[in-house]
Amino acid sequence: MEKIIDENKQGETLILELKKENTKKLFIESYGCAMNFSDSEIVASILANQGYNTTQHLEDADLVLVNTCSIRDKAEQTVRKRLEKYNAVKKINPGMKVGVLGCMAERLKSKFLEEEKIVDLVVGPDAYKDLPNLLSEVEEGRDAINVILSKEETYGDISPVRLNSNGVTAFVSITRGCDNMCTFCVVPFTRGRERSRDPQSILEEVNDLWRKGFKEITLLGQNVDSYLWYGGGLKKDYEKASDFQKATAVSFSNLLEMCAKAQPKMRIRFSTSNPQDMTMDVVETMAKYDNICNYIHLPVQSGSNRILKEMNRQHTREEYFELIDNIRKIIPDCGISQDMIVGFPTETEEDHQDTMSLMEHVKYDFGYMFAYSERPGTLAERKMKDDVPEETKKRRLAEIVELQLKHSHYRTKQFIGKTAEVLIEKSSKKSDAHWSGRNEQSTVVVFPKEHYKIGDFVNVKIYDCTSATLLGDAVGYSKNN
Ligand code: SAH
Ligand code: F3S
Repeated sequence: MEKIIDENKQGETLILELKKENTKKLFIESYGCAMNFSDSEIVASILANQGYNTTQHLEDADLVLVNTCSIRDKAEQTVRKRLEKYNAVKKINPGMKVGVLGCMAERLKSKFLEEEKIVDLVVGPDAYKDLPNLLSEVEEGRDAINVILSKEETYGDISPVRLNSNGVTAFVSITRGCDNMCTFCVVPFTRGRERSRDPQSILEEVNDLWRKGFKEITLLGQNVDSYLWYGGGLKKDYEKASDFQKATAVSFSNLLEMCAKAQPKMRIRFSTSNPQDMTMDVVETMAKYDNICNYIHLPVQSGSNRILKEMNRQHTREEYFELIDNIRKIIPDCGISQDMIVGFPTETEEDHQDTMSLMEHVKYDFGYMFAYSERPGTLAERKMKDDVPEETKKRRLAEIVELQLKHSHYRTKQFIGKTAEVLIEKSSKKSDAHWSGRNEQSTVVVFPKEHYKIGDFVNVKIYDCTSATLLGDAVGYSKNN
């Protein structure tokens, strides 16, 4: 592999790993969650061995792959629009082949080939290893499809090609699929049952990233706290495991500790945590190791006990508060963020007020908020009517977004006058003279560049803030540099 360092328009440094002998060009783009972006790196790695180097230019591509998201209707519409764009390019470049990967591929299966004439290839999230075979089918003029979901983790042995990387932060996937069956969510259908990845292969990837100069990793899963390695297989089959397998099983807190110890200077993050599966041993492990960042993304979706039940979230509002209180007891400065859905079927004004009061109690550092979007095949779609009017959803969404902005500002203000350790990731979007990075709590920090460079750990004294960004001045390298 040859590394090409390229400065793009935003001044971000892109490192493209290219194999000299490869002649074909792959254009791959990803939508949706971090897992999709991480999967695309696995796909690029599989195709690097099939003669493909990645290109940033759609017009040059021999093969275009779009890694798709089904989480909300809007996400699917975005992908349909991209397919129209590919269609236009195909008129100029008729040899170009187009493939759909990810959750839409899994959800729509062969319907995609019928509905979208441009599509030659449909590949679900567990079938990427079959890409070489599927591509030979396509080269012989046939449409190709594989949407089989797996019982194993599937990609542990593949070393991802880092795409559009800043060379500093990377995702490492640790589980695939989800068993939680939240009634609004399409993920259990598109990504299948939950499986964990062999901790040894995770450690190898983390060590390799450190050798390549990466300084921060995010362990990825739909529900990381549910990670459980007992030698392979589905999480739901754990009960059938042998006594030996159970005695040597590795939990999420064990895995965190193994990663933290293996690379004591690597910053470690994880996402996403589900309140019903998060246990205090994880929080204690976070507190024990300096290099595990004090930040938890802890989606709650609603503040109403009745709606939580309808959503099949396995906890109450009171249990969630207890978890938050326990986290703050052990890690007082822990950053906490949320995902929230407004307008779930039957949500009343009172339920909405419960969501607002839950937010008021927690005062999240930031959050990701959505209007309910009915997804075909989910339990909510089959059993409930999408009965909250669009205008009401919009109004409730605007209200929680405004409240979150207020809380974010409250949180960022707490940092003024303090010194934060920041890992420099890129140039600030707004100013070429400033660096942008994040503190432990995952809040963005912007400060003058001086002599520092991307990948440095720097202590930054904070003097001002907006609701989303801290402004400061570097006062020297941090002890971790
Ligand atoms: N555990 C996952 C959640 C994936 S979905 C993770 O790793 O993040 C991300 C968020 O999208 C959810 O937390 C939820 O807030 C939102 N979401 C999921 N399904 C939705 C739907 N049908 N309508 C609106 N928002 C939805
Ligand atoms: Fe979806 Fe709930 Fe799993 S939101 S990804 S079913 S934890």
